[in-house]
Amino acid sequence: MRQGSSCHSPGEQEPDNSPTLLRSHLLFRDFESLFNGTTRATKLISVCSPNNPVGIVLSSSEVQSLASLAQVNELYLLVDETYADLNYASTSADIELVIGLAAKFGDHVISVSSMSKVYGVLGIRIGWLATTNNSLQETFLAAKELISISGSVVDEFIAEQIFSRRTELLSKTIADMIRRREHVASWVDQESEFLDWVEPEAGIMCFIRVKKEPVGGLAAFYQRLLKDHGVYVGRGT
Ligand SMILES: Cc1ncc(COP(=O)(O)O)c(C=O)c1O
Repeated sequence: MRQGSSCHSPGEQEPDNSPTLLRSHLLFRDFESLFNGTTRATKLISVCSPNNPVGIVLSSSEVQSLASLAQVNELYLLVDETYADLNYASTSADIELVIGLAAKFGDHVISVSSMSKVYGVLGIRIGWLATTNNSLQETFLAAKELISISGSVVDEFIAEQIFSRRTELLSKTIADMIRRREHVASWVDQESEFLDWVEPEAGIMCFIRVKKEPVGGLAAFYQRLLKDHGVYVGRGT
C-alpha cells in the first residue's frame, strides 16, 4: 500500500507533514488513491483500524466506503480490528462485545482480531476471523485444520474466563490508558517546539513526530537517549 512519501530533494518544496496530512496519509483516508495504486496482481487490501501505530479509528462509514471500493475493484478487504476494544471513547456502559465489525459490509470483507493486546495475554494464542462468505470460511477452516488441527482447549478456557470479566477488565484498562495518554499529551504539548503527534483515539500506540532537530542533532539525541535513559531508537525506514 502506498503511504505519503517522506523523501524530497534539496530545493524541492518541503512536504507538508502536518498532523492533518499525516492523518489522511497514514490512515489511507485518501481511499481513491489507495485503490488507484492497485494493480491486476492485487488480490487484497489490508487495513488496520484502530491503527497500529497511529491509533486512529476509521469510522463505520469509512470502512463501508473501503468495502464498496474493494467490491468495485474485485478485491478482498481485510480489516485488522485487534485494538477495537481499546477505544478511548468507550465507557463501561458501551463496552459491548462486537466481533467482526467490518465483516458485515460484504462477503468480500474479512475481519481479524485477537485477545493478545487488549487483554495482555499473548501467552494464550486466541484470535478470530469473521466473514459472511461460506466458501472462504470453508477454506479458512481447512487451513486451520492443516496448521493447528484444533485450538488449545486450555487457552480457550482462559479466554472464556477473561471474557466473563470483560467489562470490568476493559473499564480498568481504558481508564489507565486515558491517564497515560493525558500524560503523554501534556508532554507533547510542553515540547511542541520540537514535537507534534496524531493523538490516538484507540489502541496502545502513538505516533510522535520530531519536527525540529534536537540540540546537537538527531544522532547526538539518540546517543543521549541510549546513554542516559536506556532507550534504543530503531530505524523507521
Ligand atoms: C494490529 C495488530 N494485529 C495483530 C497482531 C498480532 O497479534 P497476535 O499474533 O498476538 O494475536 C498485532 C501484534 O503486534 C498487532 O499490532
